[in-house]
Amino acid sequence: MKLEEARVVLTGVSRGVGLELLRLLLYNGSRVVACARNKGELTDADTSRFQFHMLDVSDPPQAKRLINSATKNFGGLDVLINNASVTHGLKLTFWIVTRTTYFPYSTRSGIPFL
Ligand SMILES: NC(=O)c1ccc[n+]([C@@H]2O[C@H](COP(=O)([O-])OP(=O)(O)OC[C@H]3O[C@@H](n4cnc5c(N)ncnc54)[C@H](OP(=O)(O)O)[C@@H]3O)[C@@H](O)[C@H]2O)c1
Repeated sequence: MKLEEARVVLTGVSRGVGLELLRLLLYNGSRVVACARNKGELTDADTSRFQFHMLDVSDPPQAKRLINSATKNFGGLDVLINNASVTHGLKLTFWIVTRTTYFPYSTRSGIPFL
């Protein structure tokens, strides 16, 4: 899969690794739905390929809203990057899931769309 074709959900884009990942993905033409609890250092990205949601992914309904937004806008989902390392209140390490790789720690709302 090429980055320019990827439909991506990326968590934690208000600073640090997530913000740099977001810039990299958008530069390479990916479509990204992203979130953080605050806007932080994120400035408005002038592209129709990007959508930001201010939400808390440790709250299952909010996490589901994030995934639903991506699948509704993009018609599916190719890559899920849990940069915020939060899933259902558990603090896990950074992980990435794509349609061609499998990682056992998954958000219940995201995996069915991969
Ligand atoms: N930096 C390193 O050297 C390093 C090394 C190894 C692994 N990692 C891993 O890489 C990832 C990113 O590291 P980082 O240093 O960039 O972390 P960071 O500076 O703490 O940034 C974390 C990002 O996640 C967001 N976030 C945290 N909790 C959230 C929640 N419940 N809902 C939505 N967004 C949330 C934060 O924004 P808000 O606070 O606004 O929500 C922020 O944008 C982490 O998983 C970390 O474990 C980092």
